Amino acid sequence: MNTQVLIDTARALVADDKGLLAMDESNPTCNKRFAALGIAQTEDTRRAYREMIVTTPGLGECITGAILCDETIRQHLKDGRSFVTAIVDAGIIPGIKVDTGTTPLAGFPGESITEGLDGLRERLAEYAQMGARFAKWRAVVAIGDSMPSEGCVDANAHALARYAALCQEAGMVPIVEPEVLMDGGHGIERCFEVTREVLRTVFHELRLQRVNLAGMILKPNMVLPGLTCPTQVTQDAAADATFRCLFTAVPEAVPGIAFLSGGQPGEVATARLQALNYWFKSKAPWALTFSFARAIQQPAMEIWHGDEANVPEAQRALYHRARCNRDARQVDGTPAS
Ligand code: 13P
Repeated sequence: MNTQVLIDTARALVADDKGLLAMDESNPTCNKRFAALGIAQTEDTRRAYREMIVTTPGLGECITGAILCDETIRQHLKDGRSFVTAIVDAGIIPGIKVDTGTTPLAGFPGESITEGLDGLRERLAEYAQMGARFAKWRAVVAIGDSMPSEGCVDANAHALARYAALCQEAGMVPIVEPEVLMDGGHGIERCFEVTREVLRTVFHELRLQRVNLAGMILKPNMVLPGLTCPTQVTQDAAADATFRCLFTAVPEAVPGIAFLSGGQPGEVATARLQALNYWFKSKAPWALTFSFARAIQQPAMEIWHGDEANVPEAQRALYHRARCNRDARQVDGTPAS
């Protein structure tokens, strides 16, 4: 393992106020989003959609890294280039989602565990050979009556740490994504407590598995009230709770925190990212960045609608959301001296 390469890649992924674009939806998830818009759900429509994304003019001005799924990394653009080549040509670092999805956790009704460790060393070697320089694994934690359980949090944190160690062995930067879901009527304080506990457990496991914290990126949820909680909060309050939570749980050695959007409307996710940077950029030991899927892609997918003729307009919408998120990182509330 070349530690300096890992550190350099991790730093590059969070540099220059840019962020990550997650475009690694599994086939069932991508199909579900297509079906909701009346778009055909075929291998070629998924390919064409992702070709629209990676050929967006200027995307590399806002995006450092793009996360692909297994299907896309094996596909090609109409001009014959592989997706990896097209992404590199756009000045973007290619990454790959390597978990194989979630499954119910035995003995814990309503909770899930993320799978994909079996054979991961070999899969990572193949992806590295194909040009991927970083990877992603998403664990999912739900809040509810007596959830999350310690068993669920522990099992998912352990799997994340095993995955991260294997990535670093393969020379790839692990994106460590423990997502506390927004579903539920819980208040922001409950999300704060659960997120803090999950992050502390994840970092305990990462240390046990000897993961180099300077060569990874954390991809957490923002700290927010549940979707059906009657008490919603301002952007500033969400930013404050999120920063306080992360500050008590995330070691300084981690170069960057790249938030997921988790189903927040695009503009709202951007506003919260902006509030985080406005209030905390100068205090935070890590970059506060983004790794959004829906919050960048959704308007573009709606405009594209499976029709080649809509590509330029869809690309303008995609660029706009990516640019807004880059701009959100460029604010900083430090008073001028
Ligand atoms: P969202 O931003 O749509 O939550 O997706 C991020 C992601 O990569 C989920 O794994």
